Amino acid sequence: MLGKYQVDPIIDRWHVDPDFVIEMFQDIQDKFRFIPQEALNRVAERTGKPRGVLFHIATFYKAFSLEQRGRQEIQICTGTACYVKGAPDVLAAFERELNIKSGETTTDKMFTLSEVRCVGACGLAPVVVVGDDVIGGVSPSMASEIVKKYSKEG
Ligand code: FES
Repeated sequence: MLGKYQVDPIIDRWHVDPDFVIEMFQDIQDKFRFIPQEALNRVAERTGKPRGVLFHIATFYKAFSLEQRGRQEIQICTGTACYVKGAPDVLAAFERELNIKSGETTTDKMFTLSEVRCVGACGLAPVVVVGDDVIGGVSPSMASEIVKKYSKEG
């Protein structure tokens, strides 16, 4: 019984060949934006490659994620310069606004919230990075406005 992450066509595209599991993972990652557990199990079952090996591959390569991420990643810099300028309060404000904790993804898969250590823009502290945008001088009261702006862009 297969669920919503149907990957047989991808496995077939690579001729069920265990030498092409990385290519299969690339296609799976492209399709779902992560490697669902169910998909990993299916690749193991059909190619005969041990699940442990597949798990290692999925965690080793940065291009692969075993957890579904949001369409937008909001990263709060908690490096020293940002920390002393109020990064913990900024982080708390985003956690409240998104109703998730750092490291989590919203249930609508729109945002993933995470922390980074110094993005090299200490002069702009406290800094928040959304996608390719570096936003400086962020105060807790700006969280809602930033989330709104990127909800539209997502
Ligand atoms: S500590 Fe935040 S940018 Fe350097």
